[in-house]
Amino acid sequence: MKRIDGREISEYIKTQVRAEVETLKAGGVFPCLAVIIVGDDPASRTYVNNKKKVCEQVGIRSLEFALPAATAQEDLLSLIRKLNADDSVTGILCQLPLPKTIEEKVVLNAIDPKKDVDAFHPVNVGHIMIGDPVLLPCTPAGVMEMLRYEGIDPSGKNCVVIGRSNIVGKPMAMLLMAADGTVTVCHSKTVDLVSITSQADILVSSVGKAKFVTADMVKPGAVVIDVGMNRDENGKLCGDVDFTAVQEKAGYLTPVPGGVGLMTVAMLMKNTVTAAKMQMTKGK
Ligand code: GUN
Repeated sequence: MKRIDGREISEYIKTQVRAEVETLKAGGVFPCLAVIIVGDDPASRTYVNNKKKVCEQVGIRSLEFALPAATAQEDLLSLIRKLNADDSVTGILCQLPLPKTIEEKVVLNAIDPKKDVDAFHPVNVGHIMIGDPVLLPCTPAGVMEMLRYEGIDPSGKNCVVIGRSNIVGKPMAMLLMAADGTVTVCHSKTVDLVSITSQADILVSSVGKAKFVTADMVKPGAVVIDVGMNRDENGKLCGDVDFTAVQEKAGYLTPVPGGVGLMTVAMLMKNTVTAAKMQMTKGK
């Protein structure tokens, strides 16, 4: 089994981004990411801190807008409108989940698609759906970079995605399909999951349950990509895959931590550069 090293691959991406940022800055373009966090969810706080840290590593300016959990939807929307109109802000990210009192869909629709570095706006989702992506969905794009780096071509392969979320499962299926994979999407209502996953040449799990993917679900030699971010019974960070058992059977496997999570943030940086360039060429 080859362990796919998210650290190495994300560093490779970040090196490219750092060089592009330098070039942009030399030309008077300063990428700047506005990160909005509403409430005090500890996992969201960790993710946001990490995004800001990586911005610094690649030379991108970041601004944090931390709003209380009781923030009214209209106040959040007016902040987004202000950031949309601010030419010095080239990327806007609103950390999810939002408090129950706020409608996620309304908020994501309010972000200017040109600044939507998560690619969650329906306009960007549409671009992904028709195979003409402008800004890429960060986690699925990170997975595709891992496959490319390892020389794994999804063309003609059986690709199985477990999970159908808007953030991971659905866009992951779109990118694999765009790469000519034969894609099956499984979810909580899937009957006889094992019979489907055990046919997979490339298996992507984004379920959110520790040890969900067991060795019997994996085809010998398969590429197994673990998008899960869970805590095990001892509170330790782990993915969806039972790593110890599956490593005996898989051909390639991504660890957690040290896998896809690092790629997500690296791809966010790449999108932030793409967004800044788009605003430059559109004469903004
Ligand atoms: N919450 C979990 N994953 C993500 C992500 O990729 N982007 C944002 N904005 N929130 C998230």
